[in-house]
Amino acid sequence: LSQENQQVLSAHEWLTKLYHHLIRFTKDGKAGYQYLKERGITDEAIDTFQLGFAPNTKDFTATFLEKKGFHQQLLVKFGLLSRNQEDGSVTDRFRGRVIYPIRNHLGKTIAFGARAIQDQEPKYLNSPETELFQKGKLLYNFDLAKKHIRKTSEAILFEGYMDVISAYQSGVQNVVATMGTALTELQAKLLKRYVDTVIICYDGDNAGVEATYKASKILQQVGCQVKIAHIKDGLDPDSYIKKYGGEAFKKEVIDASDTFISFYMRYLKKDYNLSLEGDRIRYLEQVLMELANIESSIEREFYVKELSTEFDISIDTLSSEIQHYRQKTG
Ligand code: CTP
Ligand code: MN
Ligand code: MN
Ligand code: MN
Ligand code: MN
Repeated sequence: LSQENQQVLSAHEWLTKLYHHLIRFTKDGKAGYQYLKERGITDEAIDTFQLGFAPNTKDFTATFLEKKGFHQQLLVKFGLLSRNQEDGSVTDRFRGRVIYPIRNHLGKTIAFGARAIQDQEPKYLNSPETELFQKGKLLYNFDLAKKHIRKTSEAILFEGYMDVISAYQSGVQNVVATMGTALTELQAKLLKRYVDTVIICYDGDNAGVEATYKASKILQQVGCQVKIAHIKDGLDPDSYIKKYGGEAFKKEVIDASDTFISFYMRYLKKDYNLSLEGDRIRYLEQVLMELANIESSIEREFYVKELSTEFDISIDTLSSEIQHYRQKTG
């Protein structure tokens, strides 16, 4: 580790402790504490995830770090402080926000996500991407989830910080998140080292569904089995847990997750008008092509029967079409 990076890690460690102390024990952190309480986060989870609050001040953080002897320029580069363009002065960057320390896989804080507690923009202000922190190379909470992932050979993949924290505090602990960006091949390979199956549990909105399809493809490419959790009413995992509880989340969402293929059959329907004959045919061809990738003939037959009923086409015709695709792709 370069001396510069050591300094930066040390600054992150100090700030993690400072912001956490403020939210837990002081008046200055009260707004953040109340915010997390309203969202149902327990003290234990606040401690486990080292959540904190950055006070809404111009130079509280700047002064704190200056006293510790850190170089201002370095702190600006890594997004812990900002430089005022007009007068060049250096001030706090995270102001009046709840702080989510982002830990690397060894448990060291290397960045922060900072959430607005009212509706300021942006909702989350994150540390910038640097050589130390690249969103695409890291999964949020991987360090804590690792032992639970190993135990079950399964990982649950979320979009966001709060999804991870809510699930974790309600006892579902093999959980990580991509922090809102598209899953990368690197993240997929990292999961593959520890699991057979990844359960994708993204938000139930359109963006979440699109991202689910893309993440599935990447995970399958690196050899993971994929299951898809389906959350009703367009909720996200955190809001589902808040509304229905952790037990329901486990039973109705995680244990009830779909195979990739049944997700795909539903997902693909948005591109077709199945009351039109031409669209029905093209839809079926797409689904059969995907079915051709399934190795288990039992599993293939299961879906063939379903399609046969839904589209009133014989099982033989559907099966021979699948064989045709299987030969083509070898
Ligand atoms: N995200 C981000 N910057 C934003 C919006 C989102 O970095 N302006 C990342 C965060 O990691 C966030 C994740 O994308 O957790 C998912 O985004 P979203 O679903 O919009 O937020 P939630 O996690 O649901 O946040 P909250 O429940 O606090 O509203
Ligand atoms: Mn989302
Ligand atoms: Mn969300
Ligand atoms: Mn949310
Ligand atoms: Mn054909």
